Amino acid sequence: MEHLENQLTSAINRRSFVKTAGAATLAAGLVAQSSTAFAEPEDEKGGRLSKGDASILRFLAAAEILETDLWQQYNELGGIQDSEVPGGTGSPAYTAALAVLDEDMAQYIHDNTEDELSHEVFINAFLKSKGATTVDLDQFRTLPSSQATGAQQIGRLTNLMQLTVDTTWYTRYRSSSKNPDLGDTFDQAIPTLAVGQHPAIPRTDDDLTPNDHIQAIANTAGFHFGTIEQGGTSLYPQLAQRVSNPDVLRIVLSIGPTEAMHFQTWSDKVGNAPALTDPKDTTLVFPDLNSPPLGGEEFQTNLIMPEPTAFLSRALPACSIVRPTQTRGAATAALKFLTAMGLFIGQSPQFFELMNDLAEDADAARGH
Ligand SMILES: [Fe+2]
Ligand SMILES: [Fe+2]
Repeated sequence: MEHLENQLTSAINRRSFVKTAGAATLAAGLVAQSSTAFAEPEDEKGGRLSKGDASILRFLAAAEILETDLWQQYNELGGIQDSEVPGGTGSPAYTAALAVLDEDMAQYIHDNTEDELSHEVFINAFLKSKGATTVDLDQFRTLPSSQATGAQQIGRLTNLMQLTVDTTWYTRYRSSSKNPDLGDTFDQAIPTLAVGQHPAIPRTDDDLTPNDHIQAIANTAGFHFGTIEQGGTSLYPQLAQRVSNPDVLRIVLSIGPTEAMHFQTWSDKVGNAPALTDPKDTTLVFPDLNSPPLGGEEFQTNLIMPEPTAFLSRALPACSIVRPTQTRGAATAALKFLTAMGLFIGQSPQFFELMNDLAEDADAARGH
């Protein structure tokens, strides 16, 4: 993870060097030009959209492309493979372990995947319809697929086999007094998942046994689903505060709540993750979620709706809200969050360079 953060930092440094040097062809070839290449070398084109709106939508398009890529990997092994979400043939042992969380997990994984794909395709199509530059990450589809039976053998954008999963959302959404926007911090629900590197999909067929091992992988996926979707639940309202065009506002206000619907579902399902220690990695322990330090009136598993908490000011009454929603630096923070979870382990410096560029431009948007 440290290595990745260094990569991220050096990408930022390289970018500022390139900017200083005036060689602003950095993203050319990485971001697909919707019309004449190099027509506007300093920045990608906004077309009929303001620069800020186009930049926000481009960062969201990139985030959705990355989300689609990771959900596609889950669907190939643990979802429903059909004409809506093609690819892969399923892993019966992994699918069964996921079904311990809920018998409909395969359907939910399929639907979440389909939703992300529609977000990605829609946002890019909207950008194109306005004459704005679209986002294409195809050249970065270089990471290996799972070798387990059921996965397609194609290049991937994201890595689900070395995850460090932040599980603070589990305690954050159950807190009645704390809010990250007011500087509060939160305990991990599964501390051992928040350190080290853990597979969320079987890496090979060796990962299918023994039972508690594939269950640990399914439990990891269950928490990762919530971690990813709570991120989207915050990202859309965070960026919505800095868009200006009514159609762009409508897009972010209409997609954002679907991320919250995903999050709510995963928040419910993960409460059924069985307590166990991974027999092949005894450092990974899933505790009983209804026993101390969890459980009780604050943390019991059926508390899946946001607990009212402090919002804007502690002087105001508690309110049931999405948290965080602070807008400053939100895109850059989202990229850091995805990077820190190990999702991009194996990606090239050029990938981080482009993602940083998209995030910085989105965070430079000032709205009206
Ligand atoms: Fe999405
Ligand atoms: Fe999502």
